[in-house]
Amino acid sequence: MKGIILAGGSGTRLRPLTGALSKQMLPVYDKPMIYYPLSVLMLAGVREMLLISTPSQLGMFEDLLGDGSRLGLTVEYAAQDEPRGIAESLIIGADFIGDDQVCLVLGDNIFHGPRFSKLLGDSVANLDGCELFGYRVSDPSRYAVGEIDDDARLLTLEEKPARPRSNLAVTGLYMYDSDVVGIAKNIAPSDRGELEITDVNRAYLAQGRAGLTELGRGFAWLDMGTPESLLNAGQYVQLLEQRQGERIACIEEVALHKGFITPQQCRRLGEEMAGTAYGAYVCAIAERPSPHTPAG
Ligand code: DAU
Repeated sequence: MKGIILAGGSGTRLRPLTGALSKQMLPVYDKPMIYYPLSVLMLAGVREMLLISTPSQLGMFEDLLGDGSRLGLTVEYAAQDEPRGIAESLIIGADFIGDDQVCLVLGDNIFHGPRFSKLLGDSVANLDGCELFGYRVSDPSRYAVGEIDDDARLLTLEEKPARPRSNLAVTGLYMYDSDVVGIAKNIAPSDRGELEITDVNRAYLAQGRAGLTELGRGFAWLDMGTPESLLNAGQYVQLLEQRQGERIACIEEVALHKGFITPQQCRRLGEEMAGTAYGAYVCAIAERPSPHTPAG
């Protein structure tokens, strides 16, 4: 399975923070926002990634992540010159996806919860068509909303409905089979002029090939579009990391845990950040006798 991280957009609601900096590069407590969705793809076992951002911001991500080899990954880059919709990422990534399955994650989404790695692995193993991940929220109108029946079968999907049929938001994490490129190429722009990811998902739903995995109450799903939500996310990460002594979305730890890098490589990455608490953590992880299971 290939992975796409969509990290474009204009970040208007976060100005002036995003005046010169990509939104997905802003700090979420102790690491750049992009580490969180990147670690989700890695936890799903994805090693080949395409990062899509605006032409002016791509360079920042290349400086940060390079070709990915230090983490045992390959990371490629592509530009989206205008924010023409989330589904356009699948068209931009058509050659990259080829005949493979693909996992798409939005660069401003954070997922954290128990046994997330297992849940992702199971979804990849059982993928048939498309798999969505739902989360119950108090303000569903801000999101795509799914409706499920008593057997957890997906019935309807609506993008930002004024009168939502449920409180089950569709998160910014999507898994697709290789049909997705053809489907994305066939959808038309919505009234707001965007290629909507929800229209792609509805096409799968119409074929009876869309599933939805509900992330339970023990999960945290956060998206960061405003200064308040950015600060809340940072405070959440700080609280859990300080309480538990484990880091959330430490990409070096996930790479080691997944067997993408060796303990020696992990230690070297930590030593490059010598003098920081993050670097000390990465060095300590490298010394652990057996693979550690991060919560995500
Ligand atoms: O966060 C989950 C929600 O994400 C879903 O429930 C919705 O179905 C989906 O449409 C999306 O809603 P948002 O209102 O959050 O979409 P937004 O336009 O804010 O885009 C989400 C991120 O993707 C944002 O960080 C910018 C980036 N983006 C967006 C578009 C439309 C791009 O990089 N390129 C784009 O063309």
